[in-house]
Amino acid sequence: MQTTANQFLKPITTKINHVNNIEIGGCDLVELADKYATPLYVLDEKTIRQIANDYKTALPEVNIMFASKALCTSALTKILVSEGLGFDVVSSGEIYTVYKAGADMRKVLFNGNNKSFDELNLALDFGVGRISTDNFYELALLNTIAQSKNKMADILLRITPGIECHTHEYIQTGHLDSKFGFDLTQIDEAVELILNEYTNLKLHGLHAHIGSQIFETSIYKDEIDILCGVISRLDKKFGIKLEEINIGGGLGVKYTEKDEPPSIYEVGEIITDSLKKSSEKYNIPSPKIFIEPGRSIISTAGVTLYTIGSSKQVPHGKKYVSIDGGMADNPRPSLYQAKYYAEIANSKETNQTEKVTIGGRYCESGDVLINEIELPKLEEGDILCVYNTGAYNYSMASNYNRVQKPAMVLVNEGNSDLIVKRETLEDLIAHDIIPDRLK
Ligand code: LLP
Repeated sequence: MQTTANQFLKPITTKINHVNNIEIGGCDLVELADKYATPLYVLDEKTIRQIANDYKTALPEVNIMFASKALCTSALTKILVSEGLGFDVVSSGEIYTVYKAGADMRKVLFNGNNKSFDELNLALDFGVGRISTDNFYELALLNTIAQSKNKMADILLRITPGIECHTHEYIQTGHLDSKFGFDLTQIDEAVELILNEYTNLKLHGLHAHIGSQIFETSIYKDEIDILCGVISRLDKKFGIKLEEINIGGGLGVKYTEKDEPPSIYEVGEIITDSLKKSSEKYNIPSPKIFIEPGRSIISTAGVTLYTIGSSKQVPHGKKYVSIDGGMADNPRPSLYQAKYYAEIANSKETNQTEKVTIGGRYCESGDVLINEIELPKLEEGDILCVYNTGAYNYSMASNYNRVQKPAMVLVNEGNSDLIVKRETLEDLIAHDIIPDRLK
């Protein structure tokens, strides 16, 4: 089976260059750190395009919508638009970003369990292709908004298929305690309302998302089978022909040596095969299929550079080495105990290594980026390269401790372009207001 970049620890262009520094996209990481300062998010364009192409080749009949929540910036959106991808969006901010970056709004799907009046309004005004309706409240709200505009809203029904995913294993349950989507037993009532009362809603199909950082491809087979089964049942009961299924995102990536995510080609085979089998089994025309990968498209392409600062040896304990970033630019280790792999980007004279714990700079004991990693003996000023930070790092970053968010650069064939500016001290106070009586 052909390997794909989500199965790699590092961007596909990663090399050691002639001065023994690490290079990505033809750019020396030490030079990038010098030019743009640290912490710095670096994105490798070749890795992104390669993965997008692998998705298109492995799943030629499938519509691929990038889950913007993994990383949403204007330049990245432009790259994915040029690759022909659509987008899964979950807020006005994501809708606005992809719209301004030139996405074909018909290829955009709006998800979320509590979309506001303003967001649904914006989605209809911007011509978002599909709205995945999540609950009874939203059906009524969207119908009212669509009616007021004299428009039809094109919708999917998000359902909870009763598949519980714990990343490396999954179970099927009758009901799932989830805040997202309609329970399997609520679908009929929703369809009845759409057909009889909500005359400004046009139902095209079903949507489900079963989890994230998934390694087991057979989960998609069960999901597709459940969705096809529901389509066939609804046809028999209501005579409606639903022609689309969206199976969500979830394919995993390799954060550390231990992770063994499947190839996109393996996922492609299982999806194609299951769709054929399940549509035959339920005797329905094969539905058009949509997927929404986020992490697997962007994670491997991204690394974060930090500068090593202070260090501390706890007597009879660990050695802590601190970096100039941490939980505000990458909250995943403190939120989910996520593991990361890192290397020193600059060449080191010494072969001596040591076991260190990489501490973040934020005022919280839990701000530890990597717990115990073997690295060449570190010195102040060394540049640490943390791999696989493309997804859910910048998109979940905060200004905790009133620290400016880092810049992001796109690298390709020796060129680096700034695609997100580093925040300034002025940016940090730009939204503050001092009431007159305090002046
Ligand atoms: N579609 C829907 C409806 C989703 O809720 C998600 C992710 C995706 C697609 C994309 O899933 P992906 O392919 O990226 O696994 N912040 C967490 C991940 C939360 C994922 C939420 N939903 C993390 O950092 O691991």
